[in-house]
This record gives sequence, structure tokens and C-alpha cells, in this order.
Amino acid sequence: MPHERKHTSKGIIEDYRVPTLIFLSVCTARRTAWLADPQVHTTLVRIWQSATHWEVGPYVLMPDHLHLFAWPGYGSATFDRWVQYRKSMFARTMRDRRMRWQCGCFHHRIRSWEGAEEKRRYMLMNPVRAGLVSTPEDWPFRGEIFKRDDWWQRRESAAQKVGRWWHASPARQRISAAHLTTGITLNLVIVYWSFRSLALPKEGSRAPAPLPQQNFLEERLKLGNGCRSVSFNRSYMNLSRKLQKIATGEAWASGVDRYYRWKHPLTVDSLLEKVDRAKLNQICEKYHVPGEIKAWPKYTDYEHWLGRAVDHVRELRLDRDPKLHILDIGSGAGYFLFVLKQLGHRVFGLDLAEPEFYGELFPLFGIERVIWRIEAFEPLPDVGRRFDLVTAFAICFNGHGSGNVWGRKEWEFFLSDLQSRYLNPGARIFLALNPEEHGHYTPELRDFFLERGAKIDRHRIWLKGF
Ligand SMILES: C[S@@+](CC[C@H](N)C(=O)[O-])C[C@H]1O[C@@H](n2cnc3c(N)ncnc32)[C@H](O)[C@@H]1O
Repeated sequence: MPHERKHTSKGIIEDYRVPTLIFLSVCTARRTAWLADPQVHTTLVRIWQSATHWEVGPYVLMPDHLHLFAWPGYGSATFDRWVQYRKSMFARTMRDRRMRWQCGCFHHRIRSWEGAEEKRRYMLMNPVRAGLVSTPEDWPFRGEIFKRDDWWQRRESAAQKVGRWWHASPARQRISAAHLTTGITLNLVIVYWSFRSLALPKEGSRAPAPLPQQNFLEERLKLGNGCRSVSFNRSYMNLSRKLQKIATGEAWASGVDRYYRWKHPLTVDSLLEKVDRAKLNQICEKYHVPGEIKAWPKYTDYEHWLGRAVDHVRELRLDRDPKLHILDIGSGAGYFLFVLKQLGHRVFGLDLAEPEFYGELFPLFGIERVIWRIEAFEPLPDVGRRFDLVTAFAICFNGHGSGNVWGRKEWEFFLSDLQSRYLNPGARIFLALNPEEHGHYTPELRDFFLERGAKIDRHRIWLKGF
């Protein structure tokens, strides 16, 4: 419920007939890059949680600026005063003279659900556009302090409504031992309802070609106010995607997944109970570099990266039987393998000798790895074992970011070597490519993977062994 405020904000006219939602951008002084840092992040979150004259919703911290959404909370401070207060509270807490803000800020009022949703998506894509990460989820310096579902879930679909009802329903607890069939049936109902809830194009209208998912936002922004035609595109895209999901059985599989996750929760806290936490803290503190968000010291934020590892494990459906022998190439800090090990898989890593940080974590996690630099047209080392699954996330061994990114021939050599010496019969390979200047792959490379029977979903590639 909106409540009375004594002052309206400078530049922001509150209209109590419609909710007030502000999109704020603040820069650091001289655009110095100190914002995307775990300690800064924690401090800002604490301040936003306590300074509730205005409530902060979704936000993203970039190295030299931040974006957030805010709406009136409890109290009478104007928006500008609240921003000022928050800045001075931050300065008092951090006591670091290098961390100064630019005077003033940029804010404007959002007037529609579409506007809010568009801005939110745009904001979340910022780190991807800046080349800091490949997906918005990979960026650790984002979050949501308070939730206002009326902005982002106004157009809750029938499927979401059923999902929410089911989640809150006492029936869910009562039949907790219940069967897979219930979950699956429910999921089919949800898919059917979402299908029904989609706006079908008007009779006689020409269907525009669907836009690729990842370009959707950019296209929408280019179109400016012409949101209608893009929304129309989106409906069309959603519709064909949903039909495809039903036809390919993906909808069924996702119902099974959701049921499985609900029955078998996998939390970062429970995983951390399996490791010597004091030692882990000690190692991470030793290698932590404040403000470093691109290079490897970012992995010292172990809670975040363990969370990401859990997501990866879930995405690949490795949180269930059968238990596999898994090699992770470019295994990094080893969080992914650590989660897999806790789930009963046999795991093994391959990586460079540097940085020592990774070398200290592997014994702590009780995982083996081989030190090896992968080079184009050179066979992999003999590791005396074969694997059921080979994974590689955020791949760099392919000359990522250099002028010599692997093409068809290099991948052909690498995959053939992997298949002949590393894979068990029926084994699979999962590759997640980093973005290059030309995209994740050239058309030729994409064709090469497809010729080998790969399934490709944006930067992710699944291949079957022999
Ligand atoms: C971007 S990190 C990804 C780490 C981990 N897979 C993840 O997703 O968090 C790339 C990893 O590949 C390793 N790497 C880079 N070049 C390599 C090469 N030529 N051979 C083997 N490993 C390499 C790096 O040491 C690093 O651990």
C-alpha cells in the first residue's frame, strides 16, 4: 500500500494512483573501477537493507557504476536525500578515500510494466555487454534486496499461477512422499496452460520471423518505443518454443527435473559442511584481491562459485544416477568437481600449473588433477583412465581471446584424440565456449559440430562419443 510522504523527490513526481518505480544509475568519481568487489557489495547490501526510506529491488554493480530499481519505503526522505544519505553512510563504513562517488546521479521514473521489464533485462545484461561474463547469472555483483512482484510478475502466466499455488499448497507437504507421476502430470498441465495463455497473432496478420533469444533485448532496444511488434515477435517465439518443448519431450523432462530438485535439495551450505571451512577461508583470504572481478582471484568468493557449480551440475542432470567417471578440462578452482564428488561421481581435473590457488584447493577438496597445457594439434597426456563424461566450462584452451582461436581443424584433432584415448563407450562431451569477437563460434565451426551430431544451445555444445 502506498503511504503518505511529506516531500516529493526532486525530479520525481509521485502519483499515488500508480506505483512509483525509479531506475537509478550512479557512477564512481572519475569512473574509477572499485565497485565490483565482494566487500563493497556486502556493505552496499547492508546499507540498502537498513536505509529503507526507499526500498531497493533488483540491482547490478559494474566496476565503475551501479544501477538499481527503488520505490518508496517507510519514511519521508526524498529520493535525492536518500541517495545522498546512502553515499555518506557508505563512505563512513568503508573509510577508503579512493572509493568516492561522482556528484549527483541519474534517475528516472518507470511508467509501465514493459518499461520496468525492459530496463531490468537491460541492466542484467550489462556485465555481458561489457565482456565480463558470458551470461548474466555468472556475474556475482547483482541481486535483489526487496521484492515487488507487482512490477515484474504483473503478467503472471497461468503456468506461473499454478506453480505458485502448488508451491504454497498444504497438499504439497501432505503428499511429500508422492510420486513422480503427480509431478509429471502437473508439469504437463502447466505447459498446456502456458500454451493457452499465450496471445495468438490476429487472423490474417503476417508472422514476423522469430528473433534469436540472445538478440531479443538488443532488437527491442533498437526499436525504441516500437515494443509492440517485438512483443508480438516474442509471443510468436514463445509459442513455437513451447510447441517445440512439447514435441521434443523437453516439457516432460523439465517436469521430472523440477520434481527431482524439490525432492533432493542441494545447497551451498550443505556442501560446505563437507569441507574444512577454516582452511578454505584461509586459502581464499590468502589469494583474494579486492576489486578483481575478471581474473582468477574472483574464484576466492567460494560461496558464489559453489552456487554456480550447483547450477551447472543441475543443468547437466548430474545430480542423479548413474554415477559417472567425469573429467573437467580447465577445472579451475575445482568447485564443479567438488559438487560432483559429493554426489558420488568419480572426478578428475586437468588444468595449468598456475595459479597456485587452484593447486591448494584440490587437496582440500580431495580431488586429483593433471597439470597440462593443451595446445592445438598436440595429444593430451596419458592419464591412465577413461571417462564417461568430459566437461569444459568457460573454455580458454582453444586460444580464447587471441587472434588464433581454434577452428575446425584444431577441434577435429582435439575431439578425435579425446575420443580415442579418453572416452568410455557411450561417453559424452560437454563444451561451454567463451564469447569471441565474432560470437561464440564461426558458422564453419558450428557446421563442424553439427556434422558430428552435436546439440548446440547458444554457447553450449553436447557431443556423443562413439
Ligand atoms: C575461464 S577459466 C574456467 C574455469 C572453470 N572451468 C570455470 O568454469 O569456472 C579457464 C580455465 O582453463 C584453464 N586453461 C586455460 N588455458 C589452458 C590450456 N591451454 N590448457 C589447459 N587449461 C587451460 C585455466 O587455467 C582456467 O582454469
